[in-house]
Amino acid sequence: MTWTPASWRSKKVAQVPVYQDGEALTRAELRLKSYPPLVFAGEARNLKRSLADVAEGKAFLLQGGDCAESFAEFHPDNIRDTFRVILQMAVVLTFAGAMPVVKVGRIAGQFAKPRSSDTEIIDGIELPSYRGDIINASPFEKLAREPDPERMIQAYGQAASTLNLLRAFAQGGYADLHNVHRWNLGFIAGSPSGERYRALAGRISETLEFMEACGITPDSAPQLRTTDFYTSHEALLLGYEQAMTRIDSTTGDWYDCSAHLVWIGDRTRQLDGAHIEFARGIKNPLAVKCGPGLSNDDLIRICDVLNPGNEPGRLTLITRFGADKVEEHLPRLIRTIKREGRKVVWSCDPMHGNTIKASTGFKTRPFDQVMKEVEAFFVVHRAEGTHAGAVHLELTGQNVTECTGGAAAITDADLSSRYHTHCDPRLNANQALELAFLVAEGIRAERFKTQRPAAAQ
Ligand code: TRP
Ligand code: MN
Repeated sequence: MTWTPASWRSKKVAQVPVYQDGEALTRAELRLKSYPPLVFAGEARNLKRSLADVAEGKAFLLQGGDCAESFAEFHPDNIRDTFRVILQMAVVLTFAGAMPVVKVGRIAGQFAKPRSSDTEIIDGIELPSYRGDIINASPFEKLAREPDPERMIQAYGQAASTLNLLRAFAQGGYADLHNVHRWNLGFIAGSPSGERYRALAGRISETLEFMEACGITPDSAPQLRTTDFYTSHEALLLGYEQAMTRIDSTTGDWYDCSAHLVWIGDRTRQLDGAHIEFARGIKNPLAVKCGPGLSNDDLIRICDVLNPGNEPGRLTLITRFGADKVEEHLPRLIRTIKREGRKVVWSCDPMHGNTIKASTGFKTRPFDQVMKEVEAFFVVHRAEGTHAGAVHLELTGQNVTECTGGAAAITDADLSSRYHTHCDPRLNANQALELAFLVAEGIRAERFKTQRPAAAQ
């Protein structure tokens, strides 16, 4: 069947909002289609090349950001703080893990959310579910919950300015390795992982001085000054994604220019569904979320459809089982992929399988379960001889209290103090950094083939 950016429309579309005014929707989509792309196809190709290194065991992918971005929390400080904690994590992984790190934000477009039910009933009143700021608003009121196509335009604008700031940070000096100490500001600095980071940053500074004395300076090695930072989100709202899909003039191929990488969620990966149909025709690197319900056969069929050429870097499999189910499901998926000779990046999402309701009613994630899923991911990959290549995290640079545990020992009762998420609970900056040290140990154990993970410094 021939593919076009619109061919998904003839398939069954899961998670689709119902817009009252169809003409307003078409008008908004046409307007978006005339707007500049947010990313350039060449950048998506560069990311794919870097992900090929990950697939081949030569690099590691760090992907993280908000569960859902929101219009209300759109602020330069939020963008900076998310970027900063990702830089801190990346530097820990690069130095302690001794491996190149590909940095991808869940940002500048992560607005749409899949929901378990189309509607929500409170006190006998039924309204459409909140599906993310790109679709409707979260207050439980009739007008707020009505899907509004203008929100796509606003999301595009927010994504464009977010990306603009991220590019400035990545290329304009903020991400210079000589600033490694400055990323450890504020509330992180006093925590145990902040202390650990300070020690590591000290060693990096010393190394930079040594290299400089040897003649390796930012002038001779400009990569010390800048970093490549890519964007990603779930390709859920296909009308928006279609409008952002353009032909690349240098290759004649279609790219979804709303982000460098897009993924398909565990709820929308049906083989005969619209989301897989859309994704198969774009040349961006892709990811698919793999939950406990994914069968071995369906996994191979997904690979057949999304990566028929078995191109390394094209497809990332993000496993999300829950800490206690990794042993049951990860080995079977890995063995299936190995048996069929498929080239994929293996990523671990330790967030979505570990969501629970706290005694105080908040949706939360116990940090020790998150850590446990990451550890199990590394242990299973080591046993199978495959590369544990990536983590996919919901995090924020803010000092929130959304996941319980961690060095600051956030309890159920603490959750209410700074619970700001618009959707799922995120790791705060301290928890994210603590996790980075654990991941670095996993990378070292794989890389240096030690029996037990050696402590990263
Ligand atoms: N350019 C290299 C890289 O991105 C080194 C680097 C510069 C870096 N700034 C960084 C690494 C910030 C981690 C974090 O890997
Ligand atoms: Mn989420």
